[in-house]
Amino acid sequence: MALINENFSNLKENYLFIDIAKKIKAYRQANPDKELIRMGIGDVTRPLAPAVVEAMKKGADEMGHRETFRGYEDSGRGYGFLRNAVSGYYKTMGADIDPDEILISDGAKSDCGNIVDIFGSGNTVLITDPAYPVYVDSNVMSGKEIIYASSNEGNGFAAIPDENVKSDIIYLCSPNNPTGSVYTKEQLKKWVDYAISQKAIIIFDSAYEAFIRDKDLPRSIFTIEGARKCAIEISSLSKTAGFTGTRCGYTVIPKELEAYKSNGEAVNVFKIWCRRQGSKFNGVSYPVQCAAAAVFTPEGQAQTHADIDYYMENAAIMTETCDELGIKYTGGKNSPYIWLKCPNNMESWEFFDYLLNEIQVVGTPGEGFGPNGKGWFRLTAFGTRENTIEAMNRLKKLLK
Ligand code: MLT
Repeated sequence: MALINENFSNLKENYLFIDIAKKIKAYRQANPDKELIRMGIGDVTRPLAPAVVEAMKKGADEMGHRETFRGYEDSGRGYGFLRNAVSGYYKTMGADIDPDEILISDGAKSDCGNIVDIFGSGNTVLITDPAYPVYVDSNVMSGKEIIYASSNEGNGFAAIPDENVKSDIIYLCSPNNPTGSVYTKEQLKKWVDYAISQKAIIIFDSAYEAFIRDKDLPRSIFTIEGARKCAIEISSLSKTAGFTGTRCGYTVIPKELEAYKSNGEAVNVFKIWCRRQGSKFNGVSYPVQCAAAAVFTPEGQAQTHADIDYYMENAAIMTETCDELGIKYTGGKNSPYIWLKCPNNMESWEFFDYLLNEIQVVGTPGEGFGPNGKGWFRLTAFGTRENTIEAMNRLKKLLK
């Protein structure tokens, strides 16, 4: 008799964005003549940068010639040329990361979920509330105990550690999805000190680092003293370079990072993760890694930054609208997400339905990211300029 992993019955019935997709489909079927503007899931709309496309084509071409064809990549950790490029990128952020500490992945979502495999079931996992649903779901699937750190209006949706709370694995995301808040160096240092005092490991999701404009805000946890002793960083090119449909990211595990057996014996985390990946992952395709490496060239950086500028101009249009309407929000300044308080004391799903039915604008109900998202709502700046302006005009008309 095949026994199912019963932890799955503790999950919500659907992944948040699947629920939203279902609602949109039903609305479309009932209203085929209405033009929807999608500002829900954080999916990009700008095409890949020309330098990236060129490199991907060249990589594909090489795969078609006997002399340059490549089969399995030896290590499955990513080609040296890409790991070197990522290491160079870290230098520009002020972090010294050896290329050997970088592992190429197919995006942040996979590694944020899969990393759970290497941590024992006895861990207490601390997740900020609200949070990207992958952190909660993947730990529920593996039956780990989850506790929450409250991100709320009072702390600017940037939870700070409580020394009296015991935890072993900590998920942080900055710039935060969904709230757009960004930790300062001082705040991140508090988390690093807390993690070290607990012998805990921080899983730091930096998928939105490229949207940080303020030079004083940290773009990597490895710019914080002590982080090498307690952190893993997971990042992605999905939003940085429009790779949502191309798939490539990277994970940094410092060689000295340790976790423990129940008898207290220290174990090297990098080795265990590589052992896990060796059995379950054969790496990212060669043409995609070529494309990813092009992101870090001067040409690629200039082109992808222009796309980020475009999204941040969208974000400015959105925050100006919120200011005009007197709507409270976080994010939008160093982040592509605007996290706003639902007007007129509406609930998140109520506001979702209201915007969908009245002005055909789709956002994401804050409650979908955790209980603290109740009464809040997330909009993304990843749309086209035309749609962003149109959506904001519709919103002004509706709420004024
Ligand atoms: C989001 O909308 O929260 C993200 O785009 C989803 C993802 O990247 O997996």
